[in-house]
Amino acid sequence: MNIKHDILIVGAGLAGLRAAVECVGQADVAVVSKVFPTRSHSGAAQGGITASLGNEEEDQWEWHLFDTVKGSDYLGDQDAIEIMVRDASRVIYELEHMGVPFSRTPEGKIAQRNFGGHTRDFGKKPVKRACYAADRTGRVVLDTLYDQCLRHQIKFYPENYLLSLVFDEKRCAGVATYDLTTGELHFIQAKAVLLATGGCGRLYKTTSNGFASTGDGMSLAFRSGIPLQDMEFVQFHPTGLYPLGILASEAARGEGGVLRNRLGERFMERYAPTVKDLAARDVVSRAILTEIRERRGIGAKDYVHLDLTHLGEEKIEKRLWEIASFVRIYLGIDPVYDPIPVQPTCHYIMGGIPTDLDGRVLINENGSIAPGLYAAGECACVSVHGANRLGCNSLLDLLVFGRRSGLTMKRDILQYEAPILSNGSTRSVDSKIRGLLNHQGREKCDSVRKEMQTVMMEYGSVFRNEEGLKKGLEGIRSLKERYKDIGVSDKKKAFNYELMEAIELGHQLDLSEAILASALHRRESRGAHWREDFPQRADRYYLKHSLVFPTPRGPEVRYKPVKITRFQPEARVY
Ligand code: FUM
Repeated sequence: MNIKHDILIVGAGLAGLRAAVECVGQADVAVVSKVFPTRSHSGAAQGGITASLGNEEEDQWEWHLFDTVKGSDYLGDQDAIEIMVRDASRVIYELEHMGVPFSRTPEGKIAQRNFGGHTRDFGKKPVKRACYAADRTGRVVLDTLYDQCLRHQIKFYPENYLLSLVFDEKRCAGVATYDLTTGELHFIQAKAVLLATGGCGRLYKTTSNGFASTGDGMSLAFRSGIPLQDMEFVQFHPTGLYPLGILASEAARGEGGVLRNRLGERFMERYAPTVKDLAARDVVSRAILTEIRERRGIGAKDYVHLDLTHLGEEKIEKRLWEIASFVRIYLGIDPVYDPIPVQPTCHYIMGGIPTDLDGRVLINENGSIAPGLYAAGECACVSVHGANRLGCNSLLDLLVFGRRSGLTMKRDILQYEAPILSNGSTRSVDSKIRGLLNHQGREKCDSVRKEMQTVMMEYGSVFRNEEGLKKGLEGIRSLKERYKDIGVSDKKKAFNYELMEAIELGHQLDLSEAILASALHRRESRGAHWREDFPQRADRYYLKHSLVFPTPRGPEVRYKPVKITRFQPEARVY
């Protein structure tokens, strides 16, 4: 089926929905989503969304700016971060007016809680900056934005899987999608296409990410010749439930929970004497794994304890209800009485499709744009998180830059004629699908994917070194060879998830290679990228963004400068 819209948004998480709401009334806007919109991964965000409202104690946007720059290990672009933190209060009140049921202080203000790395007075002590709705913040914001979209009768194409970006010369002219419910291909033509397709945590064996987080948008941009920025920076959240990886929100530590090793020690006092359990995520994840490596993990297992038992039942039920229920359901223990087994879990990718401050996709280190193509949210890299994201800055990023992309697209399309999709692009997508279905391959998706996740966990996670990264690259390249012989045994048209997973796996292998290649080139330690063979940050050589380009010889890494406006790099001390 051939369909036309002015603006097409791919992805129905917070960035996509916020962009859609912005365009209503001024353009014909539609949203394509791989899953039903309210199942988008943004709904899994638990802890909150940051803004220096100062409802619980004094706070200022400059302190938020400083913390985010420092948390990014000075790799975040300070102009972008300033836009984000200055816009934060407006974002919160806008959400409140749309109907988001934030938790409240006794006097009725929006309540705020502590989160790692957020401090007052330029790092002096922790500050309550995260606005929250119990521990279901992403869920309620997603549902509210979806309500707004329904109210404005925005057209949705749910359960439509993005197969390719279609270009007319150099300009993005639309997309091809696979309708999972019927097996039909759709060609959707648009003057502007926004990629808001989320992250790629499913590259790793242990992850807090939902099954849909396979990085399709990033990979399709990459295959179209667009570089990916800062892909070596992959965040491991310190507290995934052991052994599943499901998130136990940092809110648990924000509310007073502490990490303990086998000896019962509150070990974060040794690693981050000032902020302790509320240090930035990279610091806490490394601390946990160091405890485990030095045999202070619990028993003979690879975990430590998150202890909430001193918080009391009332606080746990009121503020941490969802975590408590996950722990009861998945681990069969009660966090009111029992410490929770946790381990670092792959949570977020700081890198992604490079964009300018208004969501336009950048195609090289000189800042040239890809006309008609935009990106926002986790799949994008406007670079507000640099080498390490602070908790609760993600929802803020999605809403600030989702809206800005919407504003830009509705302005930009005024100068664009409707593009024409060529028959050639239609044919190539069709033959790719038929090729996968007709190939009598001997390899199974499931086993290649498991091996990829093991390789990424072993060589591309919290601790890295040259030898391991090279081994990891070899492993991924041999899996790419095996992928050429993937067989899809399910031949039916409707709901062919085996086919979709086979396509996803191709994307995941490309992204794994891009991550490992970028990590191998960065011979320093910064934020979430910790090189055991280069344990120092080396600003002289690496205070710059990586850009990994696709070439026929494999990924090629180049660099571009970081934008520094107010804060010169300093050593990170906690
Ligand atoms: O711990 C959390 O609730 C996660 C929040 C985030 O990643 O921003």
